[in-house]
Amino acid sequence: MSRITLSRFLIEQQRKAGSLPPELRLLIETVGRACKAISFSVNKGALAGVLGDAGSGNVQGEAQKKLDVIANDFLLDANEWGGSLAAMASEEMELPYHIPGEYPKGDYLLLFDPLDGSSNIDVNISVGTIFSILRCPSGVTQPDESAFLQPGTQQVAAGYTVYGPQTMLVLTFGSGVHGFTLDREHGSFVLTHPDMRVPERTNEFAINMSNMRHWDAPVQRYVNELLAGETGPRGRDFNMRWVASMVAEVHRIITRGGVFMYPHDARTPQQPGKLRLMYEGNPMAFIIEQAGGVASNGQQRIMEIVPQKLHERVAVFLGSKEEVERVTSYHQA
Ligand code: AHG
Ligand code: MN
Ligand code: MN
Repeated sequence: MSRITLSRFLIEQQRKAGSLPPELRLLIETVGRACKAISFSVNKGALAGVLGDAGSGNVQGEAQKKLDVIANDFLLDANEWGGSLAAMASEEMELPYHIPGEYPKGDYLLLFDPLDGSSNIDVNISVGTIFSILRCPSGVTQPDESAFLQPGTQQVAAGYTVYGPQTMLVLTFGSGVHGFTLDREHGSFVLTHPDMRVPERTNEFAINMSNMRHWDAPVQRYVNELLAGETGPRGRDFNMRWVASMVAEVHRIITRGGVFMYPHDARTPQQPGKLRLMYEGNPMAFIIEQAGGVASNGQQRIMEIVPQKLHERVAVFLGSKEEVERVTSYHQA
């Protein structure tokens, strides 16, 4: 059988399921196209002069890398003229981006983390792009921040692209998780990982251990039990990985299982966590749940949180069902 490209896959899904409206299909393809452009820039690195700091900061108070800004621009440029969108929002922009007046407006809202794991860019380690698609509330013609403040259960599609040894786009629109590998010679994403599933059981965890002394008691208990290994309460050894790029961690977990945690930290008591709910927590939770895993903030499903702010933060525990359910239960004990 011939290769199934992203375009063909989406058209066939549209015909088969009827659950993928043409406008949404076009939007997903356009995001994919922007990710290709980001992939080529990431790959060129120093040859294209894209490494290093941009010399600016974002609304989160983080120093921007050149590629944070470049990736953000690629996503805006690719998506502003297609007619599918009512507005966009990004980690790198304080306020929603309005579709310029000369272009038609559509029914969807696009949110993204243009470059995730940007501390990895200059050291040549995997980074990624994360995106989430919501419907614009009906009757709203000039969407402001409040139009975006919908729980993750309202997402109509979400995905990420990991720029690693291979560039892969991993996607859900509510009927499983589909993985595509970028074929650079042909310039197209090809379906290589149909129906991705998170293994229920795992011996691998991911957390930034250097923050251990700042975690809440349930997380300390859970990780201490993992560290105790075979002779501890879990009765087996666990392995640890930390890439410092959520996209790369989620991709590993969806491929071979695991649990990823970015818990609350006592140094910033007013913040629920480090990661952002709308364009990191929610899209990854949608993907993980669609792949049979679990995503919680310790108290509830991440996707059921009703957001109060565009750049709101969230504690994240996601991955293999058994482990996420266990660490969540320790929060309830
Ligand atoms: P971003 O580069 O978009 O700001 O996100 C980085 C996030 C996430 O991808 C990763 O899991 C985490 O920050 C890494 O945090 P540490 O610096 O604590 O390792
Ligand atoms: Mn990020
Ligand atoms: Mn980012």
